[in-house]
Amino acid sequence: MGTPRSATAEASPNIALVKYWGNADDELRIPSNGSISMTLGGLSTVTRVTFEPDLGEDLLLIGGHPAHPPALDRVSRHLDLIRERGGVSARARVESNNNFPSGAGIASSASAFAALTLAALAAAGIESDTASLSRLARRGSGSACRSILGGYVEWQAGGTDAASFATQLAVADHWALVDLVAVVSRTPKPIGSTDGHRLAGTSPLQPARVADTPRRLALCRQAILQRDFEALAAVVELDSQMMHAVMMTSSPPLHYWQPSTLAILQAVADWRRAGAGVCATIDAGPNVHCLCAPGEASGIETRLRAVPGLEGVLTCPPGGAAHLLPDRAVSG
Ligand code: DP6
Repeated sequence: MGTPRSATAEASPNIALVKYWGNADDELRIPSNGSISMTLGGLSTVTRVTFEPDLGEDLLLIGGHPAHPPALDRVSRHLDLIRERGGVSARARVESNNNFPSGAGIASSASAFAALTLAALAAAGIESDTASLSRLARRGSGSACRSILGGYVEWQAGGTDAASFATQLAVADHWALVDLVAVVSRTPKPIGSTDGHRLAGTSPLQPARVADTPRRLALCRQAILQRDFEALAAVVELDSQMMHAVMMTSSPPLHYWQPSTLAILQAVADWRRAGAGVCATIDAGPNVHCLCAPGEASGIETRLRAVPGLEGVLTCPPGGAAHLLPDRAVSG
């Protein structure tokens, strides 16, 4: 490869409806349990990868600024997997932009590693099917394997590298849910998911959570396929609470909630009791994802905006799959 070769890709984050928490194999990111998500439309990461024979080392620019060494190191290790596959030795310039705040529970690593994987494979000239793409994205960030696909997505835990990848359960148009992300804080969280996964096994509650997951996955799958919002709300809220119970009982314990997080959880419960089609789920951060039944989002958004202490609300319908863009510069 004598001349620089580049490609640009776009991917969206996803919200887990049944959560991934804890790995059977940390190195390969093979999860302890399967998970289900909805890909989030309206939010995206755009990443351009250029393999440049003249570069001495990989470069990573996020929003136009050089990334911190740990982020660069994680991206370099992921690029190594792709270089190995494609027989590429050149280092890469990686330019990436998010249109949403990173590090605050809106799974920026999912869209980041989905876009990076797709762009890097294309720049290296490697053809890949969806399952292989998902498998490879998983190595960079577990939840990224779900962001390769659009709509409603299930990640089979699998138990081996080959068997652990995501597939689509239903297309985005299948069910017009809306995720209203109540942004409680834009400050990056103190303990990232990777360290959190390593602590999951220290909670005495994790074995019970993992053992019960096939049941929750079946309930969630069925609720999505039948477009049954009440059934979805019940399993989504149970699953989120079970993951946070594991986090809070790990050693050391992880507390991602802030006072406004709980205030919103309580408000959502009140609204649903009064008949509104809304439920709440929280990833590894303080923000609350309020899932709304079709037609309910604008009314819920008005109520959410009246809750004190919120920094904003993001509106996300089901989104599409990761895809290549015409190759172009990614502005900062
Ligand atoms: C709470 O995929 O961010 O959002 O593989 O270490 O990058 P890494 O972890 P990550 O974990 C996601 C955890 C979660 C639940 C979920 O998205 O399923």
